Amino acid sequence: MNPLTRLGRRRASVLTLLAVGALVTPAAATAAPDAVRASTLGAQAAQSGRYFGTAVASGRLGDGTYTGILDREFNSVTPENEMKWDTTERSRGSFNFGPADQIVNRAASHGQRMRGHTLVWHSQLPSWVSSIRDANTLRGVMNNHITQVMNHYKGRIYAWDVVNEAFADGGSGQMRSSVFRDVLGTGFIEEAFRTARSADPAAKLCYNDYSIENWSDAKTQGVYRMVRDFKSRGVPIDCVGFQSHFGAGGPPSSFQTTLSNFAALGVDVQITELDIAQASSAAYANTVRACMNVARCTGITVWGIRDSDSWRSGENPLLFDRNGNKKAAYQSTLTTLGGA
Ligand code: XIL
Repeated sequence: MNPLTRLGRRRASVLTLLAVGALVTPAAATAAPDAVRASTLGAQAAQSGRYFGTAVASGRLGDGTYTGILDREFNSVTPENEMKWDTTERSRGSFNFGPADQIVNRAASHGQRMRGHTLVWHSQLPSWVSSIRDANTLRGVMNNHITQVMNHYKGRIYAWDVVNEAFADGGSGQMRSSVFRDVLGTGFIEEAFRTARSADPAAKLCYNDYSIENWSDAKTQGVYRMVRDFKSRGVPIDCVGFQSHFGAGGPPSSFQTTLSNFAALGVDVQITELDIAQASSAAYANTVRACMNVARCTGITVWGIRDSDSWRSGENPLLFDRNGNKKAAYQSTLTTLGGA
């Protein structure tokens, strides 16, 4: 049945119920009908002003099953690898936007918003960058990279992951060692965000990381202190991305608390790379519910479409099986997006 037919029938049945209710008990007529349930992830998320996205790999765009699901279910796209430094500036000053352009142009023609991922990251970083030892050289190289990439996509990116994974795992709560921190000092993050704001003032600027979902973890607290400091000093930052690569148990029980505490600092929060080992329905529902319960949680991105597309394919962590069929977790995700 097409969605319009469904809408029509539902409206008709609601009207019938209201009419009958009016005859029997007048009070029932004043009860508003529920919002109409949508039948895809993106459309259902849009009913609460959110998006539901996926990571996309340019090499899969020729696969009709893949693009069929992509265009039916998702209204936001993140390039899985194509905007990373080792693709966009493999050698100094020579920029390659071909693979990312494919994804961006396709998303635009299908009305999908884009998340840019990512500008400054210690991983998938060419060795010509990681071997720089002079601070002025590295500062110029970092700022030029941010400016050139953001200029190329100016006005077309909803949110950029300006800095990815800058904090250390474990109990330190400090930034990890990387060429950026070691040569430029911890101020490199602030510098990157200021450069990004001047390059594309319309894009939301995000800090993105993993293992920052559990409120009491030192890493979470370290990122929280940084965002609080940025907001108090007027350093431009608009959002925090929680990658949310979860084990089979799903999110920590404090996840909603973490999202709302960050949001209270005055930033949007987003779930940016969701995948869950074995993809239990409950684990997906718990994750989606945490976002739905926080007004400034503006969207959710899963890190791939089918299990066979996943970087964790051995753990079957996504919403569609390798044949492109909806898994149980798809249903619980759709239901929970509806506020259930
Ligand atoms: C992963 C991609 O999915 C893989 O294809 C690639 O080989 C490695 O990177 N954190 C991130 C993402 O921010 O960019 C990573 O994506 C997964 C972890």
